[in-house]
Amino acid sequence: MVGIFGCVLKDGNAAPVIYSALKRLEYRGYDSAGEATTHKNKLFVKKDKGRIDEIHTRHDLNDLPGRIGIGHVRWATHGAPLRENAHPHIDCNKQIAVVHNGIIENFTELKKELEDLGHIFKSKTDTEVIPHLIEENIKKGLPFIEATRETINRLEGSYAIAVVYVKEPDKIVCVQKESSLTIGVAENAAYPASDIPTFLPLTKRAVAVENQEFAIVSDGKYEIRKITDWSLVPREPKLIKWVPEKAEKLGYRHFMLKEIHDQPSSIHNTLRLQDQYLELMTAFLARTKEVFLVACGTSYHACLAASYMLSRLAFLSTHPVAASEFIEQQGRSISIDSTILAVSQSGETTDTLAAVEHARLHAATILGLTNAIGSTLTRVSRVYICPQSGPEVGVAATKTFTSQLCVLAQLALRLAKQRGKVSHTEMEWLEEKMDQIPDAVETIIQTQEEKIEQIARKYRDTEFFLFSGRGISLATALEGTLKLLETNYIPSMTFPAGEKEHGPIRLVEQGFPVVFICPRDETHKKIVNDIREMKDRGAPIIAIIEEGDEEIKALADDYIEIVKGMPEILSPILCVIPLQLFAYYMAVERELDPDRPRHLTKAVTVK
Ligand code: AGP
Repeated sequence: MVGIFGCVLKDGNAAPVIYSALKRLEYRGYDSAGEATTHKNKLFVKKDKGRIDEIHTRHDLNDLPGRIGIGHVRWATHGAPLRENAHPHIDCNKQIAVVHNGIIENFTELKKELEDLGHIFKSKTDTEVIPHLIEENIKKGLPFIEATRETINRLEGSYAIAVVYVKEPDKIVCVQKESSLTIGVAENAAYPASDIPTFLPLTKRAVAVENQEFAIVSDGKYEIRKITDWSLVPREPKLIKWVPEKAEKLGYRHFMLKEIHDQPSSIHNTLRLQDQYLELMTAFLARTKEVFLVACGTSYHACLAASYMLSRLAFLSTHPVAASEFIEQQGRSISIDSTILAVSQSGETTDTLAAVEHARLHAATILGLTNAIGSTLTRVSRVYICPQSGPEVGVAATKTFTSQLCVLAQLALRLAKQRGKVSHTEMEWLEEKMDQIPDAVETIIQTQEEKIEQIARKYRDTEFFLFSGRGISLATALEGTLKLLETNYIPSMTFPAGEKEHGPIRLVEQGFPVVFICPRDETHKKIVNDIREMKDRGAPIIAIIEEGDEEIKALADDYIEIVKGMPEILSPILCVIPLQLFAYYMAVERELDPDRPRHLTKAVTVK
């Protein structure tokens, strides 16, 4: 996963161009990188783990011959960040090299089939099946392009792929399915790449390769065809006007906004996680006596939501604990019968790792959910899952939160199924709804963003916010508060709506808005009453509601609508989107940089 780049020059040396392009992909975060070129019927490959400059110092990435080549920066999703797992991947005869961004869902079956045919695999990646499949098809007598096309027909998943073959050294063959790919077109050169910024200093003319399209790229020329019927797609290059600073954010003003907009695709990819990982983790959860869900910050909010999911669906009672409190609160009770599911975007948060270490020393089972394969958390976990959100640059976690929620919901669903706690019909409905999440998130962004920007403008000078919800929406409210706090430094507080009479009501008064999270679940009736009570005390109400919720629309001063009909356990994934956008636009209105909140770092690795 992460970034691919290709370079076809009429004359000259491709390697230095690829090396500079990989450096431009650095900002996305990666754990390994590599290049391959073809020259005089031979393939040249250099790759390793680590930072580009370290790899360059070790291997001289400028020193590969040939005018055609491909490059890759990798963020591990299948297989640890090791040299053998770095791209490009090659076939048995060292004639075909492939770089890939995305996921091949059926790679386990394909790998088995190819191994039975005698293919030797060097890596643990899903990508490596591609060069071997192309090799197999060429062996059957198909020309390179046909062999690649035939290969694509066997792949399930999403991908942007670039392939070179020593026997057809004048071209790079590329394919796109649900993973972005654009070709930079220059006078005597062409550069297929997963991101426009990668080739922007080389050319400002670009042509998009769209979903289910195939591109054959040679110097300054390209041919695009539809994968399905092989029809030619006439498409002219467009002029890209981005300034470099904006380019690395793919045209967005801030990483936070880009990452909020990434969510339909990051969720889509996460929902396609390999069954085997989910099965294994579910098996551990199923047999344990007690489960602690341990994390910090946003990841802790995902744990809190998960405790509702696991209890309501799978009837499993769990303990969500802030990692910094874990040892004090639970330390003495941890034993061989305990399971710790640690959730951490970075996999390096000190408090989370300290809790895990304590649990390990008491013989507990450690499960990990982290965005960073190769992180300490993956090393100490018995089983770990890496959601497919890709690297997150903004300090405020957004897309990693929704991906964590998707994995946790999938685990709850599986466990419920295994325990016989949901009917067949309900399970089918839940699975169907789960598949609809990426589109639902897209709809919320498309239809509500402008309105949220206006609401942020209206409340930009507010000095204090309250956030509230009931049931699973409490986790969403906490996350909304954290997003606003960390990006805007506005004092904000969350309280469970049912707790209002026990203190928080004293804070409710004119001018202090209360943000209510109100999906149409079992708590809806009570939330309507909560809103009434706050309104009577003069608090402006901002409500996150389902489309067509006329009852709350009539009460709220401002409302933001999410797609209706989602199951309660999935509602945080949708309801948090408006809250992320609200925090973002508030920061923009207040002329703050949401990507660099003061006193905060992406991974908290200090005590
Ligand atoms: C989230 O927006 C924050 N930056 C922060 O609370 C973060 O979630 C927390 O530090 C935990 O990080 P982790 O998920 O990498 O462990």
